[in-house]
Amino acid sequence: MAQVILKDLNKEFDGLHVVKDFNIVIEDKEFIVLVGPSGCGKTTTLRMIAGLEDITSGEITIGGRVVNDLAPKHRDIAMVFQNYALYPHMKVFENIAFGLRMRRFARPEIKRRVHKAAEILGIMDLLDRKPRQLSGGQRQRVALGRALVRDPKVFLFDEPLSNLDAKLRVQMRAEIKRLHRRLEATAVYVTHDQVEALTLGDRIVVMRDGVIQQIGEPMSVYSKPANKFVAGFIGSPAMNFADLTITGSGDSLWAMGPGMRIAVPAARIPGLRPRIGRVVTLGIRPEHLRLATEAATDDSGFDAVVDIVEPLGSELLVEVNAGSVAFTARVDPKARLRPSQPVRVLMDSEQLHFFDSDTQAAL
Ligand SMILES: Nc1ncnc2c1ncn2[C@@H]1O[C@H](COP(=O)(O)OP(=O)(O)OP(=O)(O)O)[C@@H](O)[C@H]1O
Ligand SMILES: [Mg+2]
Repeated sequence: MAQVILKDLNKEFDGLHVVKDFNIVIEDKEFIVLVGPSGCGKTTTLRMIAGLEDITSGEITIGGRVVNDLAPKHRDIAMVFQNYALYPHMKVFENIAFGLRMRRFARPEIKRRVHKAAEILGIMDLLDRKPRQLSGGQRQRVALGRALVRDPKVFLFDEPLSNLDAKLRVQMRAEIKRLHRRLEATAVYVTHDQVEALTLGDRIVVMRDGVIQQIGEPMSVYSKPANKFVAGFIGSPAMNFADLTITGSGDSLWAMGPGMRIAVPAARIPGLRPRIGRVVTLGIRPEHLRLATEAATDDSGFDAVVDIVEPLGSELLVEVNAGSVAFTARVDPKARLRPSQPVRVLMDSEQLHFFDSDTQAAL
């Protein structure tokens, strides 16, 4: 059992508060992804779990044991770094075996473990090569092998794929997912790439400036972001936002802006009625917009002009301008749209998000 509990975890560097009241219970065998922009405290959090960084306050428990004062080598964890720095003069076998040798494992056990890891990773035929004779993806597998042979309770990954080119990254991402299913170990994985987070995590933790913004399963974070930051950070192209004023009375409310009058769906009216006369931020994802070229008077739409059309093969991204607001729509690749063309933008009203324009919290 390797449940990992981070309780009221804080980290300060010379007065700079970089991880703030971090709380999470990571279940045994769970794959948790910490995601957020550069400098938000992901690596620092991971290094505190590993014991490579002192904690300023709080408590870390691994497998039922408080490890605050336990040296890294006694924590039963293995970490895979972004810069995996293999020993260039050692063959792949020796690179993978190195940690076991340091721990004075017997030779037959070392051989057994290295071969088992190499088999899982599909690098048996590379064991006699030196790192410079390997491709980037093969080197990354060797780095994973070094962690695998340790057979730890918890794997920690710090952006292990960010040195790989885009195609290889997608391939290794799938391999890590497969690997996790097979190993059944607890994993904490750090990335600033929201696609990696969504695809890998059982749950994802979105961080900003050292503060957890939201913890949840990928699709629930995607469809119910807790605030505007999460809404804008998770998903690509990003969610569209517009600051609009709530108007109306009784059973009909509208979100109004220059050239925009959007009907508030019935289910959202009770929540937004107290905000009549005030500004809220409306959010809608690109896939929840449709572009109509015939004139239509739809309460959940507005008129706009096509600015840029980006064909991606399987879909078309269309940037449109309505007054001072730019929206991106993700539409059928067969749609015939040209720059400067007038369109009617229709919204799936079930998919509207509203945020407090001051606190940015979801309403
Ligand atoms: N040893 C240190 N001394 C002082 N400040 C540090 C130290 N290590 C990290 N920081 C600061 O702590 C903050 C969090 O850094 P951290 O490396 O955890 O960010 P990150 O989320 O991993 O970012 P990235 O995506 O760029 O790797 C940053 O402002 C960083 O400058
Ligand atoms: Mg980092």
